[in-house]
Amino acid sequence: MMAGLRKHGRGCDMFPSDPLQAPLWTVLASLTHARRMLEVGCGHGYTAAVMASAGGPDCHVDTIEGDPHHAELAEQAFLQRGLSRRIRVLRGRGQSVLPKLKGRYDVVFLDGDWREYPSYIPHLRRLTRPGSIIVTANLNPLFGGWGGRLPGKPAIQSYLTRLVRDPHFRTYVVPGEWHSISVRV
Ligand SMILES: C[S@@+](CC[C@H](N)C(=O)[O-])C[C@H]1O[C@@H](n2cnc3c(N)ncnc32)[C@H](O)[C@@H]1O
Repeated sequence: MMAGLRKHGRGCDMFPSDPLQAPLWTVLASLTHARRMLEVGCGHGYTAAVMASAGGPDCHVDTIEGDPHHAELAEQAFLQRGLSRRIRVLRGRGQSVLPKLKGRYDVVFLDGDWREYPSYIPHLRRLTRPGSIIVTANLNPLFGGWGGRLPGKPAIQSYLTRLVRDPHFRTYVVPGEWHSISVRV
């Protein structure tokens, strides 16, 4: 595993996505002919690197990270992998950075603090085009996953309810995995 993708200490609460999910990004990149992808919750850069590789040499990834140490480790990892030109790490929390972004993304991955998700919805609309795909991770707390003691269930419920009712999206929640997959219509 490349340096930077590991946890950096016992207190680190960074959980990279399961490598079994890696082919998902190839499927989504092909489906959307992706040129721009966006991630909230870069961690140490594992999925951003997978997304960039899946999209090929003309695809760029913007990835938002709220922890400066994680952002630093991710940038080192991208440099080592020759991906720095195509992956931009945007420092700050999703709710502060998303309003500053412009243009349209073909694929969006939400993998940070789920309590912010409801505030992302106007930006998901603004930053996508018909056919864009949004994958939302970390829905487990609503469904009793991860021990069921985590805070923020009402935020996930509010996010999913609004997303499902929003005429701009069609959404499917993957049972067991508790990710949602939405297409912008
Ligand atoms: C589950 S890890 C991300 C793993 C990464 N997506 C991957 O698969 O390799 C969550 C990361 O999101 C960051 N984070 C949590 N909430 C955030 C937020 N609201 N905005 C930006 N980053 C956030 C954490 O610091 C942590 O590095």
